Amino acid sequence: MAGRQLLACALLAAAVGAAVGFQEGLRGHQIWELPSSIPAALEALLRDGLLDALDHSESHRRVHVPAEGLDTARRILGEKGVGYKVLVDDLAEHFQGERRRRREVDSREAGSCTADSCPAPLSDAYMTLQQMEFYLREINTTYAPRVSVQSIGKSVEGRDIWMVHVKSGGCAQGDTQPQVNLRHPRIAYWMMKRRAVWIEGGLHAREWISPAVALQLVATLAQQCSVTRAIDVYVVPMANPDGYLYSWASNRLWRKNRRPISGGGCDGVDLNRNWGYKFGVGASSNPCSEVYKGPATFSEPETQALRDAMTAVADGGNLELVVALHSYGQVLMYPWGWTAEEAPDTPDMRRVGEMFASAAQKRHGTVYSVVNSASGFYYASGATDDWAKGVLNTKYVYTLELRDEGAYGFYLQASQILPTAEEVWQGLRMMLLALTPEKAPAGAPQA
Ligand code: ARG
Ligand code: ZN
Repeated sequence: MAGRQLLACALLAAAVGAAVGFQEGLRGHQIWELPSSIPAALEALLRDGLLDALDHSESHRRVHVPAEGLDTARRILGEKGVGYKVLVDDLAEHFQGERRRRREVDSREAGSCTADSCPAPLSDAYMTLQQMEFYLREINTTYAPRVSVQSIGKSVEGRDIWMVHVKSGGCAQGDTQPQVNLRHPRIAYWMMKRRAVWIEGGLHAREWISPAVALQLVATLAQQCSVTRAIDVYVVPMANPDGYLYSWASNRLWRKNRRPISGGGCDGVDLNRNWGYKFGVGASSNPCSEVYKGPATFSEPETQALRDAMTAVADGGNLELVVALHSYGQVLMYPWGWTAEEAPDTPDMRRVGEMFASAAQKRHGTVYSVVNSASGFYYASGATDDWAKGVLNTKYVYTLELRDEGAYGFYLQASQILPTAEEVWQGLRMMLLALTPEKAPAGAPQA
C-alpha cells in the first residue's frame, strides 16, 4: 500500500504545475501495454483510478501512466519481474506531433463552420466548444419553434450547459402555419400519448465522439419529423464544457470536470460517479483518482443541472428512455451498474437494446454488444444511468460506449464521426419506434 500512497503523492505533485503550452498537462506521461497478469499492487492502483486504464480487455491492457507515477509503477513491475511495453513515451510530444500531422491533412477548411457561424455540425473534424455553441445558437433560430435550445445551468467555471428540445408534433407545414393541428384526432391522440427521451453527451471530457455524435443526432432529429411525432427528445450534447475545453488545450486524456480541489493539488470530479443513487460503489474518495466521486452526491453544478432538467422532464410525464453517450468499447449497457442484481424491466431493456444493436450493425457492420452494466463491464455507481433507473424509474436506460474497440480509443479519428453517428441513428430510430404508441384506434378522443 506504500506504493499507492507514493503514487498518490506523486500525482498530487504532478497536477500542481499549471499547464501552459498545448497539451503540456501530459508532459512526460506515458502509455504502456501491460501483460494480462500484473502484480496485485498495480491492479489496485488501476482499480482505484490512480493509474488510468485505457482498455477494458483483460488480454492486452493499455494504461496511461502519469509522469510522476512512472517510478512507482516501474518499481512495482520490476520487483515482480513483470515486463511491459512503452507505447508512447511522452504524451505531450505525441499529441503535438498529431496536431502537426492533422494540420497538414486538414489544411483545407473543415466542414461548414466559419469564424462566427456553424449552420451544421462538422462531420470531418471534432468541433471546438465555440463551434458547438455557434451551431446550437443557429438551430435555435433555423428550426424554431420545433427545436429550442436553452441553458439548464452552469459549469464549475461558469459555462452554460445547453439542452436541445426537439418537440413532438411533427414538422411545421410552413413558416406561418401553426406547427401542429391539435384538432386532428390522430395528432390529438399522439399528443396525449406523447413520450419523452433524454440523451446525454460529453459528460467525460476526452470522449470526443460522444458530443460529436450527439450533435449529429440533433441535426438528424431536427430534419426528420415522423419518428418523433409523438416523442419529445431532449439532448444535452456537451454536459462537461470545462473538461472538454481542457482536453483540447492541456490534457487530451482529461476525463473529469474542472473542480479545483484545495490542498492536494489534484483537480476534478468524475461526473459519472457523482449522482445520488447508491453513491460510492466502484468510485474513489481520492481526488487524484480518475473516478473521484466528489465530496457528496450532486456536489457538482454539472450533475445538479442535469438532475434538475431530467427531473423536470420526467415530471412533465412519460420519460421513457435515457441514453448516456460515452466512449469507447462498442457496448450498450443497461443497469444496474452498482450491483449485479437484476434491475426492473431488464427483459425489456435487453430486447430494445438488441433492436438497437441489430439496426446499428446493418448500417456499417459495427457490432455493439448488449450487456448488463455491472456484470458485463464493471461495477460503478453514481452514474447517470443508475440514477435515472433508481430515482426517476425510467423504463429504458442505457449507457452507450461508442466506437471503437480500442485501436484509436479516445483518440478516434474524425473520419469515424459520420459512420458512428449514422449507425447510432439507425439504432436509436428503432428504439424510438419501439416507444411510439400504436396508431390511433378508430374513434380516438378528439381534442
Ligand atoms: N464508462 C462508463 C463510466 O465509467 C460506464 C458507466 C456505466 N454505468 C454504470 N452505472 N456503471 O462511467
Ligand atoms: Zn465515459
